[in-house]
Amino acid sequence: PPDSVTLLADHRVFVFRDAEGFHAISAVCTHLGCVVAWQEAAGEFLCPCHGGRFSAEGQVISGPPPKPLEILPVELDGDQLRVG
Ligand code: FES
Repeated sequence: PPDSVTLLADHRVFVFRDAEGFHAISAVCTHLGCVVAWQEAAGEFLCPCHGGRFSAEGQVISGPPPKPLEILPVELDGDQLRVG
């Protein structure tokens, strides 16, 4: 699991780094579009609107979301991280 997950609120995207590098995942719930929150202790994302739960990889664990959170491409360009 990632050790630190950061929400870029303006962009509604989470970015994190693990052994494989940087990752970006959409924070927009696939149910009705609320912004999900990272639950550090549980290591999962929780949607505040209807309780949808997603794994750290964005897969649906439970609740109404019909599909996984969108995984976004990430590219490290010098010291800038480009997402999307
Ligand atoms: Fe996320 Fe409904 S909008 S569970």
